[in-house]
Amino acid sequence: MSLSFEGRVVLVTGAGGGLGREYALAFAERGASVVVNDLGADTKGGGKSSAAADKVVEEIRAKGGNAVANYDSVEDGEKLIQTALDAFGRLDVVVNNAGILRDRSFARTSDLDWDLIQRVHLRGSFLVTRAAWNHMKTQKFGRIIMTASAAGIYGNFGQANYSAAKLGLLGLANTLAIEGSKYNIHCNTIAPVAGSRLTETIMPPDLVASLKSEYVAPLVLWLCHDQCQENGGLFEVGAGWIGKLRWERSQGRTVRQKDQPMNVEAVRDQWDKICDFTDATKPSSVQESLSSMVAVLSQVESEEGVDANPTAAVASTSGINPAMAVGQKMEATTFSFTHTQCILYALGVGMSTKDPDHLRFLYEGDPDFSCLPTFGVIPSQAAMMNLASIPGLNIDFTQVLHGEQYLELYKPLPTSGELTSQATIADVLDKGSGALILLDVSTYSDGELLCFNQFSVFVVGAGGFGGKRSSDKAKVAASPPQRAPDAVVIDSTTRDQAALYRLSGDWNPLHIDPSFAAMGGFKAPILHGLCSFGFAARHVLKHFADNDPSRFKAIKVRFVKPVLPGQSLQTEMWKEGNRIHIQCKVKETDAVVLSGAYVDLHPASDESPESLSQASSSTILHFPMIRFCPGLQSELVFAEIGRRVKDLGSELVKKVNAVFGWEITKDGKTMAQWTIDLKNGSGCVHEGPFSGKTDVTLTVSDEDFMEVVQGKLNPQKAFFSGKLKVRGNIMLSQKLEVILKDHAKL
Ligand code: NAI
Repeated sequence: MSLSFEGRVVLVTGAGGGLGREYALAFAERGASVVVNDLGADTKGGGKSSAAADKVVEEIRAKGGNAVANYDSVEDGEKLIQTALDAFGRLDVVVNNAGILRDRSFARTSDLDWDLIQRVHLRGSFLVTRAAWNHMKTQKFGRIIMTASAAGIYGNFGQANYSAAKLGLLGLANTLAIEGSKYNIHCNTIAPVAGSRLTETIMPPDLVASLKSEYVAPLVLWLCHDQCQENGGLFEVGAGWIGKLRWERSQGRTVRQKDQPMNVEAVRDQWDKICDFTDATKPSSVQESLSSMVAVLSQVESEEGVDANPTAAVASTSGINPAMAVGQKMEATTFSFTHTQCILYALGVGMSTKDPDHLRFLYEGDPDFSCLPTFGVIPSQAAMMNLASIPGLNIDFTQVLHGEQYLELYKPLPTSGELTSQATIADVLDKGSGALILLDVSTYSDGELLCFNQFSVFVVGAGGFGGKRSSDKAKVAASPPQRAPDAVVIDSTTRDQAALYRLSGDWNPLHIDPSFAAMGGFKAPILHGLCSFGFAARHVLKHFADNDPSRFKAIKVRFVKPVLPGQSLQTEMWKEGNRIHIQCKVKETDAVVLSGAYVDLHPASDESPESLSQASSSTILHFPMIRFCPGLQSELVFAEIGRRVKDLGSELVKKVNAVFGWEITKDGKTMAQWTIDLKNGSGCVHEGPFSGKTDVTLTVSDEDFMEVVQGKLNPQKAFFSGKLKVRGNIMLSQKLEVILKDHAKL
């Protein structure tokens, strides 16, 4: 779909000619109302004329577009904005483009040459943008362009004044990008190349003619469109080519030693290393830039002179020192919980009462109420947050990615209690582009090991410290078999999935705060990786383990791409013995989000491990099975009721007049069905479902059924505690007492 600017108001400064004119025409052509500002000065800033702006306005109007002229200097910033508000009532986009040149070799640059250039370019852009800022802030939308120049980025003979102003604009833009992001105000900088009256004196005429302004305008329009989330970027553009620039920093060298003054000779001796761009990093924030220096402070203090040890010296600049970190134990953490946290977590990973099978994870009164196995990550997640406290791991948290997760349960999780977690740095690997930290967390209940987690934490830009690349401690991902999946489940996340999931304890604003997400380069807050992980795990549990948490053994997942709340997750599953391989995609985009993933199951109690491993892929879908089970105690009761009904049938039919269906369960599975028909003929009791529609169906476990008939458990109490479930006409179940009370003596 083509990009429209319908409803948007755009101010282009210096739009009476050259690049600015091209922008104004292009915005207007796509529906924007445009303020065409131009002082009508000559290239050196002299003179004044309304003709330039008027001509462009006329051009726009002739094509049916909407435009007004403004003839003020950009140094009168407020007036330009007022023109936009008077004419169109709002302002969405400011393109700071007006410019002049006063080229002189540096020695001959006069005060005026200097000041005029700073006033038009840097001060002018500041004044116009400041006047627009509050309008943009209030409307929570704004797009700003600063126009820099290759002369500023690289330097250019005879343009000291101009270079200074142009790179000043980049500094201004960098900070506006940070301050504006939470108001959806984005500020980007371009360094264009185009033939214009400014360049005709320095370029040959054919180049001036062929480097057309129309090869620059589309980038400006894109950066100003509401679909574009770019913020704080710097682009070179010309001739139809566009490239992005960023800072690069060498690994550097610490030239200071503990308790010794820093000296110039050390700088000289390390000069090659300081300037060596091998494995250069790309810091993108002040925090990132500073963090490695802060790391050096503690490194120098704790080391016996880094110079003597080159590995340590490099480690200190990346903030990672494996020799120090590996094997470190963190302080144990405790986690207290009740059924509330279990239910909140189940909702967080998308469980819903829409699916009756989910009730056992959502309702504490359910007879089989359980905790989802993947809840096992929750008690241990605090360890991730404490990583930075480990000596030798001076990491920048804005660069931390959760790469992989492994969870193994040694017994089903309780639904309440107090758990203690003990975290250890199992290994630290050097992956070049970053450091990979393996964080092992063991969680105990009453001193007994309940579960084990391994977090694989990737720190972008912290590699290159000379460490090993792989580890035998790593729980490795596994690829799925090369065939179509045996089962596929599509499940939608809700718009509020991340808002709900974070209540389980991962409070990272990246998952809720749009401006925070924007800083991380995401167009919207993203779902927690461990939330998608929870979705995938429960898909496996339902399809291959009858939702039985005791069957769950372990899960491994690699987080590949983020999921946006509201997108649908498509879990593809392959059964290979006790291992269910998984791949998870976003259905809407087909992007793989979880890869190399698997769940290991314990064989079902009625299945031998062999039968499981030999099971063909056609047996993958487990529906609740009704099996004849000679061991049920309730059988005797139904047989007895059958005899009574035979004796008193017609009398009971008159009194009760209803058909009761029974489902008797054991260990959460329906093991028998019975029908007590006290409606038709003289009544009967038989095993199996009723052929027509029952008036009421009761589901109860074999044990609870016995408790009820023996009078040990009041039926109402059984109902309210969730032990007895009733579907259909609930009032009729009251009449059951008529039948059951006679059996209290059983
Ligand atoms: P241009 O001279 O064709 O356009 C600049 C316009 O700004 C003129 O119409 C002029 O009247 C107007 N202007 C000057 N002072 C003003 C003021 N105080 N208030 C309002 N308007 C004023 O030049 P061109 O090439 O289109 O340049 C546009 C921008 O791009 C400038 O900021 C320039 O420094 C920058 N640039 C251009 C390059 C190129 O290759 N053309 C290279 C690098 C940067």
